[in-house]
Amino acid sequence: MPESSNPLSYSAITAVLRESGSVFAEEEARLLCSVFDSPEVLSLMVEKRTNGIPLQLILGRTEFKGLRVAVEPGVFIPRTRSEFLVDQALSVCEAKSTVVDLCCGSGALGMALLSTLPHIHLYASDNDPVAVRCARKNIASLGGQVFHGDLFHALPPEIKGNIDVLVANAPYVPTGAVAFMPREAQEHEPRETLDGGVDGLDVHRRIAGEANLWLRAGGSLLVETSKDQAIHMAAIFELHKLDPTIVSSDDYDATVVIGRKP
Ligand SMILES: C[S@@+](CC[C@H](N)C(=O)[O-])C[C@H]1O[C@@H](n2cnc3c(N)ncnc32)[C@H](O)[C@@H]1O
Repeated sequence: MPESSNPLSYSAITAVLRESGSVFAEEEARLLCSVFDSPEVLSLMVEKRTNGIPLQLILGRTEFKGLRVAVEPGVFIPRTRSEFLVDQALSVCEAKSTVVDLCCGSGALGMALLSTLPHIHLYASDNDPVAVRCARKNIASLGGQVFHGDLFHALPPEIKGNIDVLVANAPYVPTGAVAFMPREAQEHEPRETLDGGVDGLDVHRRIAGEANLWLRAGGSLLVETSKDQAIHMAAIFELHKLDPTIVSSDDYDATVVIGRKP
């Protein structure tokens, strides 16, 4: 039988995926074929993909900073853009820093930080139990601890005033812009992981409001924002006595605002 007439061949799967609108059909077909051996399961997974389920949720994993990160339905899928946030955090981290990944989702950021600096003391937290479970899967074996709860309330009190580096990729999409996000995100990522309120900065505002109490003198808070939000975020940092710096990367299409506690 010619390969193209076999419904489960790589090239047939590529064609089906391309037809359904996948921009990276070859790569997706390669990954699906490499993960699912059984023809029945493979066929089911291709169908899920053509129905718009994100590939990462089908595979149960994604790649972030060259690491394999477990993801599951209900958890935000880490974006490559956030690798820039990790790079910026690493640039202010020391070997044994106390580091917090607030709003950790799958724990990808903390995982990447721990993989580069294995002796940091890493605390991660999220208010969604699914995210907490997923993050534990990803970072517990690397020595990080994951807590469940609303922002700083989740953290152990003994680190209050002792945090060197606080990273937060919190929801920052303005409410009105959620409807313009790719369909996959709207349909398969919980709204609470995306929607940051009217200007997108509601959660960031709360984080900045408390950060000074939790950071050590000289410590830094780093948040990802859009390019347009950065200047507003910097003003919020100033209001809360954090010295702001805005850094951007065209390669990552990413912006990070850093607030340093004097
Ligand atoms: C945009 S996702 C980012 C997840 C992860 N930092 C990443 O980059 O992959 C935002 C995360 O913030 C969490 N979150 C939203 N509001 C929160 C709150 N008040 N307290 C703790 N976590 C919150 C969501 O559950 C979600 O996992």
